[in-house]
Amino acid sequence: MNYWAHRGLSYLYPENTLEAFQHAFEYDICGIELDVQLSRDNQLVVIHDETLNRTTNMQGYVKDYTLEELKEAEIRYKGNIYRIPTLAEVFSLLRNSLDENETYINIELKNSVVPYPGMEKKVLSMVKAFELEDHIIYSSFNHDSLRLMKVLSPKAHLAVLADDVRDCLKTAAQLETKEIHPYIGSLEGFDASGYIVRAWNLADKEPLCPDESTPYHYSYSELRRLGVTDYITNNVQDYVPLYLKEDPARKQKAMPGYAIDPQNGKMIPSEDSSIFYEPFYLNRGTILRPRYDLRYRPYFYRVPVRPELLHSGVYDDEAIYSTFVPEYFEEDWQRHGLVMKEDGYLRLELQGRKNHSFKELFDVLDMPASHKRAECFRKEEERVIKKTDMYRKKEDMLYLLTSDLHYAYGSVSEQSLTNMKHLCRKVHPNALIDLGDLTDGLMPKEQTKELVKRIKAAQRRMSIPVYRCLGDHDFNTFRNNSGSFTRQEAEEFYLQQQEEDRCFDRNDYRLIFLSSYDPQSDEPNGFSLRTIRWLRHLLFKTPKDKRIILFSHIPPISKSNYLGETIHNENRLMKVLSKYQKKRGQITAYIHGHIHADSLNQDHGFPIIGIGSMKPEDYAGKKPDTMVTPERQLGSASQELFDLLLLSDNGLHFIRYGAGEDLHINF
Ligand code: G3P
Ligand code: CA
Repeated sequence: MNYWAHRGLSYLYPENTLEAFQHAFEYDICGIELDVQLSRDNQLVVIHDETLNRTTNMQGYVKDYTLEELKEAEIRYKGNIYRIPTLAEVFSLLRNSLDENETYINIELKNSVVPYPGMEKKVLSMVKAFELEDHIIYSSFNHDSLRLMKVLSPKAHLAVLADDVRDCLKTAAQLETKEIHPYIGSLEGFDASGYIVRAWNLADKEPLCPDESTPYHYSYSELRRLGVTDYITNNVQDYVPLYLKEDPARKQKAMPGYAIDPQNGKMIPSEDSSIFYEPFYLNRGTILRPRYDLRYRPYFYRVPVRPELLHSGVYDDEAIYSTFVPEYFEEDWQRHGLVMKEDGYLRLELQGRKNHSFKELFDVLDMPASHKRAECFRKEEERVIKKTDMYRKKEDMLYLLTSDLHYAYGSVSEQSLTNMKHLCRKVHPNALIDLGDLTDGLMPKEQTKELVKRIKAAQRRMSIPVYRCLGDHDFNTFRNNSGSFTRQEAEEFYLQQQEEDRCFDRNDYRLIFLSSYDPQSDEPNGFSLRTIRWLRHLLFKTPKDKRIILFSHIPPISKSNYLGETIHNENRLMKVLSKYQKKRGQITAYIHGHIHADSLNQDHGFPIIGIGSMKPEDYAGKKPDTMVTPERQLGSASQELFDLLLLSDNGLHFIRYGAGEDLHINF
């Protein structure tokens, strides 16, 4: 479910003000909604009612005042005075945040009472001037105005707004859009499947200013039952967590006792230096200015990622996958500050001032927005959506299925998380199934934790539940890393205190998640007796009409594990599964990660399916022929590899985003 702040955070701040918009983005929302009208001197202003009467200390129509006069109007709330913003002011305020968080503004053209001729053109050109085309969704109760928008800008992102969903659908068909904004009250008993349904709601009274009336609170399950995919509400704060954008520069403290090796950019022990372990990604043009007479030295790591990553399993102890460039900076940074000549990662070595945070030591000027999304990902997304629509029926469950992200700084991982978020916002999967190995697990525990928090935050922004299977690297044990997690620690940290062996019933399916790695065992890959007993009990208690899908990180059979490690209790596990399958035949598939390849084994009466890794390696020549390691290319859609898994009544459909092929298991 995506949430939109209607007129901004309008139960906590006066509606349609800069403050209401800015504070809305402190929450994990998809975007804000606002209303635009024209002043007498044709300036675009943001206000809901056609008159000033309700929200300001002035009277009369918006259209009868110049912008200068409208700016005099006071919006009074809790002893403060707010002003009517112009659309340009809203754009200036939000531009960076929209880009960084990949969020949207829904501009409602408020032109069904006062027609405001020419407003459409004006809005379009202002959006263009701010280069915000990818961040705007236009809506209007005036459907002629939407038709005109389509003529003026065929690519404009249009959504049909109406009180009744039937009116939305009628115009949506004409405009060839699949996005509708109906009043939530019109959805009861109505089927708008196949559409993005951004339903809006109003309390009894208009939100400005917050009053004593409590709006009806739609629960998540009510919203889903009504077929709502996005909820435009005055009360986003009741639905989504407060999300303050993580600013690594704000948090980071230098680690004492380390310097950087100027030859290769690696950490080396040092008595008198300290470094910022996690590299900062900075855009070209960013300036760092030391606040004190500071002794520091910068090291530069260039994007894109190292090409060998594509063809082999690269593991870097410090998880920096970009290319270190020795002696990149010339010496004058010391006095004048450091200017980034290109986008890239920066690590800083300090002498002294060990306990200060980055922000205490440096001013960061013009830290700009992140990159726009490349065309290849937009196209891939469209292709995947089309494919999904071909197979998907309303009642089907859809999951985003990922494995082996192995996040690293300067790799493509950040892009992958962004691509997944975009896809989620379009296809609204029921959950994310993550088959583990979020990181390489090579860093000290605290560093791994920081990295995982970052990944979990990105997954949270997909606004769907997450079902996780932990991988071997998630225990931070790789290459005898001394900072390993115990099972209990891992379950607390990754699974929010739940046990890994878990089961969920979803429609006709029972999804079972198995723990498959024991960091304390001599044979860590595999299945404990406890897990196997729990599974046996669960299987035989499963209702006969349920189809079962099992998930784990490690494959259940060593034949699927080309890496050669044995699987603890393989025979015991397979005996339980084979026996059950012979008797009841309810197992539809076993899906696992770990092997960084796509594989399918049919020897056991049900398909055992291995999912390739999101880490973009092809490991050419290293794997048996039966395991497909699709070729990857940086800068193209094939740098990605994850699936949408559709559970339908005629089979399982794995629809691949990026490198590799779709897989269909038909019943
Ligand atoms: O866009 C949904 C909603 O804003 C429509 O109603 O009156 O609040 O503009 P209203
Ligand atoms: Ca509105």
